[in-house]
Amino acid sequence: MSDEAVLKAINLVKIYSGGAVPVPAVRGVDLQVDAGEFVAVMGPSGSGKSTLVHMLGGLDSRTSGEIWLDGKRADTLSESAWALLRRKKIGFVFQFFNLVANMTVADNVELPALLAGASPREARERREDLLGALNLGDRADASPAQLSGGEQQRVALARALANQPSVLLADEPTGNLDSRNTRDVLRLLGRVHKDGQTIVMVTHDARVAALADRVVSLLDGEIVDDGRIARPRRRTVGEVIDLR
Ligand SMILES: Nc1ncnc2c1ncn2[C@@H]1O[C@H](COP(=O)(O)OP(=O)(O)OP(=O)(O)O)[C@@H](O)[C@H]1O
Ligand SMILES: [Mg+2]
Repeated sequence: MSDEAVLKAINLVKIYSGGAVPVPAVRGVDLQVDAGEFVAVMGPSGSGKSTLVHMLGGLDSRTSGEIWLDGKRADTLSESAWALLRRKKIGFVFQFFNLVANMTVADNVELPALLAGASPREARERREDLLGALNLGDRADASPAQLSGGEQQRVALARALANQPSVLLADEPTGNLDSRNTRDVLRLLGRVHKDGQTIVMVTHDARVAALADRVVSLLDGEIVDDGRIARPRRRTVGEVIDLR
């Protein structure tokens, strides 16, 4: 395996054992994501996509296997050490926004950067840049409840990118969005990817996946296909959208 791996899973397994019958959700996944790669994770409902990305980000415990982040073994860390590493190195976007309700949009976006050690000024500049890119510059003082679903999802994306994480993990970040909001989110993802951001994104939407360098397909908790997208040249987001 190359030294460039930002994220690596080795024989990763998750068996949910809470119910009457154990559910094997992820069954021996090997995955390496290199610096700057944009990987789309696809597969039918229940194939283990969310379980996989949650484990990769340490939000869900693994049953067995290894997880490496920036060349460091992560899965054997204590809960608090994992949380600290995650704060520095991972940005998350979930299908349902998970914003802090009693904080403004601006504070929601700045908080992760501040927690990761950015100065207030750096955090503010980054927040202004990200919210501006997502057409939310004028909503900085609003509370999440005052925003539409699409606006909340864009704030969640800005928040996930605020501390310039080693890897952005996104679970259907456009799942609840209409086409215009989807376009804004994809445009920002395309832009940060171009700037070198490593991205792992779960999506059901082939048009969204078309933006990625590589598509990993899951079926019944296993990777059944892992391929680079062949394309003569890099498509721009605008062109991808025009295909709709
Ligand atoms: N907390 C849980 N306890 C028991 N089983 C679970 C739990 N969470 C998920 N599962 C099961 O694990 C399997 C994988 O679920 P997962 O949520 O990872 O699928 P997914 O690919 O993300 O599906 P979707 O596209 O619907 O979001 C499914 O069979 C699901 O029922
Ligand atoms: Mg899911």
